[in-house]
Amino acid sequence: MSSPNAHTTTPRDRFADRSAVVTGGASGIGLATARRLLAEGAHVLIGDYNTEAAEAAVARLESEGFRGRVTWRRVDVAEEVDVEALMEAGQALTGRLDVVFNNAGIGGAIGPIVETDVAHWDATFAVLTRGVFLGVKHAARRMIGTGGGVIVNTASIAGVAGGVLPTPYSAAKAAVISFTRNAANELAEHRIRVNAVCPGVIFTPLMHNGREDAAEAVVRQIQPWPDRGEPEHVADAVAFLASDEAAFITGEALAVDGGYLANGLLRVHPLPGAKAKADYAGITYGLTGRPREVRRLD
Ligand SMILES: NC(=O)c1ccc[n+]([C@@H]2O[C@H](COP(=O)([O-])OP(=O)(O)OC[C@H]3O[C@@H](n4cnc5c(N)ncnc54)[C@H](O)[C@@H]3O)[C@@H](O)[C@H]2O)c1
Repeated sequence: MSSPNAHTTTPRDRFADRSAVVTGGASGIGLATARRLLAEGAHVLIGDYNTEAAEAAVARLESEGFRGRVTWRRVDVAEEVDVEALMEAGQALTGRLDVVFNNAGIGGAIGPIVETDVAHWDATFAVLTRGVFLGVKHAARRMIGTGGGVIVNTASIAGVAGGVLPTPYSAAKAAVISFTRNAANELAEHRIRVNAVCPGVIFTPLMHNGREDAAEAVVRQIQPWPDRGEPEHVADAVAFLASDEAAFITGEALAVDGGYLANGLLRVHPLPGAKAKADYAGITYGLTGRPREVRRLD
């Protein structure tokens, strides 16, 4: 018998014959969410920057029984033409665009504020914030024409509390939360719900950077809930927000964080890259395959 509150999911059919676009769906939270939506009947189009990871993800999902309902397209979510084409292709899956999960992300600029290059600040916002704006803009254009839809954006607890992750990342995620609320307000009359998830520390390549043990040790000290955060925890929250069960929920930013925020604001840098905060400056592009540009500070 499993312990109380162990993570379980019961497959249902909440998304039967619905179309869904998932950005950043080649890995981590996006991949787990694509799988969850597929398991509940959706047709899923993944948009991702990393060709190798996306091809592997689709092959894996096909081998899990979803062949014929999952495809992918290479996009940079910071580029408007890419996002517009992605949403068009998402609508072409079934004739309607029902669900869009704007989730692609990178760690972005690192280092002290006084060492942060404008170009790195802008590149961080281009992916994390402009990417969400473009996703909402081009999803909504299509949803307005077909009677409505659901959008979920990935923010972060870093957008709620300080001290969690690098400053540009946190500011960009705070902007996602604000943008989500305003978009929900503006798009309600078109029957488009817009919500955000704020993941806590979720064990994905972006978070542990290949150092799972180090990350687990720090998380154990600061996160109240005893289990570590997995992409599936967030996927379930996204699926709920995207489903008709959340029909009266819009403009919400839902923390999925094992109580991390409930533990208060901490002057602790929890992730394995903590040292980089003081000793290095530059930018990292996560799983995209783009090389990091990091310099050591004297
Ligand atoms: N893992 C965590 O602890 C955590 C916590 C809070 C928020 N988040 C957010 O969750 C989201 C997913 O992160 P993850 O942890 O699953 O990371 P991940 O690195 O496993 O997956 C992110 C995916 O986004 C893709 N991507 C990055 N830049 C892109 C771009 N410009 N265009 C298209 N695709 C791009 C990557 O190729 C990758 O497949 C991100 O927005 C991240 O900021 C993660």
